[in-house]
Amino acid sequence: MNVPLLAMDEGERADLDAFRRDVLAGLAEAPRAIPAKYLYDARGSALFDAICEQPEYYPTRTEAAILRQRAQEIARLGGRGCALVEYGSGSSVKTRLLLEAMPDLHAYVPIDISRGHLEATARRLREDYPGLRVDPVTGDYMALDALPDTIGDARRIGFFPGSTIGNLMPEEAVLFLRRARRLLRPDGALVLGVDLKKDPQWLHDAYNDRAGVTAQFTLNLLRRMNRELEATFDLSAFAHDASYNEAAGRIEIYFRSLRDQMVTIAGSRFQFAQGERIHTEYSYKYDQTEIAELARQGGFSVAASWTDPSRLFAVAFLK
Ligand code: AVJ
Repeated sequence: MNVPLLAMDEGERADLDAFRRDVLAGLAEAPRAIPAKYLYDARGSALFDAICEQPEYYPTRTEAAILRQRAQEIARLGGRGCALVEYGSGSSVKTRLLLEAMPDLHAYVPIDISRGHLEATARRLREDYPGLRVDPVTGDYMALDALPDTIGDARRIGFFPGSTIGNLMPEEAVLFLRRARRLLRPDGALVLGVDLKKDPQWLHDAYNDRAGVTAQFTLNLLRRMNRELEATFDLSAFAHDASYNEAAGRIEIYFRSLRDQMVTIAGSRFQFAQGERIHTEYSYKYDQTEIAELARQGGFSVAASWTDPSRLFAVAFLK
């Protein structure tokens, strides 16, 4: 899908400019890196959904099981008539688990940078829950500082599932929590999904599925640069590279050049050495003590924390 420039609206053009700017700047850095958010174009989002179905990728189904088991408890802790504010709506399956346990919700407020995605989600939910007020907010949840007036004084319960917080550097995660604290107000709360530290082999396998879907997800970024930035990446000359850095407590994901090669991106030429890695994602893993410390630094405290029998994943209720 090569979108002609004239068919683009102002927002799309701004997005494309930002993508180009961030890629060129990231490849000029040492070590080279491209922000993880660019993994999620339409194809990348579909591939991520496919990752969630892989047998090795335990977080999605484990978190859903915890939410299914604890939804009533979460609803009780949230209280009657609260507003559910989802950061980065996308996981509609998990959202529905909470919506079904909270029939007297004042409103559901999904926040997402993708307007198209957001509108589709809102439409589906309004259809399926006719009594529910859905007030979507388009924006970057790292920057957002106000919610629609319709929320009024309803207690604000944030929902940040999927261990998306693990994509942030720990200091960014604290900044995110502080912003969330302000947006959700002092009487608000945050339901936070966090992937737990565990046997490194489990972690390794979750990001190196046998079917190669995670590899396709990483390499989709090259495909996107080819399409949107007129880049000349040969997809067979790069490999997905994911490993657990135990000292740092994070999965590190790169694409790695399989040979010395030159690639043109948006008119600029870049040399990649054989074996050179370009960073795309971190996925931080935390233990319960670290979650409590993160919460504290973000201005919250852990009111409850639930996990699965194998302690793979945690859902924390922060107040
Ligand atoms: C969506 C950031 C939570 O870190 O597990 C999965 C992204 N990347 N496989 C994760 C991801 C490769 C995912 N998060």
